[in-house]
Amino acid sequence: ARHLLGIEPLHPTEITELLDTADRYAELNRQGRAPRDVLAGLTQINMFFENSTRTQASFEIAGKRLGADVMNMAMQASSVKKGETLIDTALTLNAMRPDLLVVRHPNSGAVDLLAQKVNCAVLNAGDGRHEHPTQALLDGLTIRRAKGRLHRLSIAICGDIAHSRVARSNIMLLGKMENRIRLIAPPTLMPSGVAEFGVELFDDMEEGLRDVDVVMMLRLQKERMDGGFIPSEREYFHRYGLDAAKLSHARPAAIVMHPGPMNRGVEIDGTIADDINRSVIQEQVEMGVAVRMAAMDLLARNARMGRDETGVMA
Ligand code: CP
Repeated sequence: ARHLLGIEPLHPTEITELLDTADRYAELNRQGRAPRDVLAGLTQINMFFENSTRTQASFEIAGKRLGADVMNMAMQASSVKKGETLIDTALTLNAMRPDLLVVRHPNSGAVDLLAQKVNCAVLNAGDGRHEHPTQALLDGLTIRRAKGRLHRLSIAICGDIAHSRVARSNIMLLGKMENRIRLIAPPTLMPSGVAEFGVELFDDMEEGLRDVDVVMMLRLQKERMDGGFIPSEREYFHRYGLDAAKLSHARPAAIVMHPGPMNRGVEIDGTIADDINRSVIQEQVEMGVAVRMAAMDLLARNARMGRDETGVMA
């Protein structure tokens, strides 16, 4: 496999290999013993055409921890502002012979297109509403560490499913690992055709959260609502915001997740987000570094072995 473009092409054994590698990196990170030679001599370029805090910072830290030379392209200050296209920008950077390109773009499919034009490994850091594979992997690792397994769990994904690449990648990953997935959203934010993925659909939080093991909240992604219906934040919090009363319908040991950035008082009550007995939001951020270390390690290993684009991350 040359690239990590999405969860869709991954086999469950490949997901497990990625999570096992990331788990080892998580422990090494805690001990301050990350191996600096894994990506030594390799050049990693981060190209973020859309804002990011967690993903960009953790890809940069992951690369540096493994010894890569990391460059963050300041896309706002680049020649994209002079009208250069995504593909011309990618070809220009490709000519500088990087080994790893990490790309976030507001358009679904843009990262796949770019990957066809360059001859280095491409990692999708989120493209439009399409996929955010490293987010689903870090969510999977966080669940596996908290629950001791990543199969046969009941997992609720709640909120703005329609505009969420996080939801899409998680539906695929958690489904491949044989979990029971419930989607809870107002009808206007539930994508059509999603039932084909073998998920259960709810528009009521109390009903949807009943006896689940994991509660995954999503942000209202107004930037992708294209002038369509935007619910009032107050009304939305009342019906779909996670508070103690709604959470009481989940299993007593249920964990609370959020990929961030979080809007307190809109999709989640701040006290729930900060409750260290329920919330694993900071662990998700920590696992983000480990998962990105694992993904870049495995892609670099594949590149060294000269393998081509079959299976895993092709
Ligand atoms: N979860 C996530 O992708 O966060 P950022 O947009 O801050 O990278």
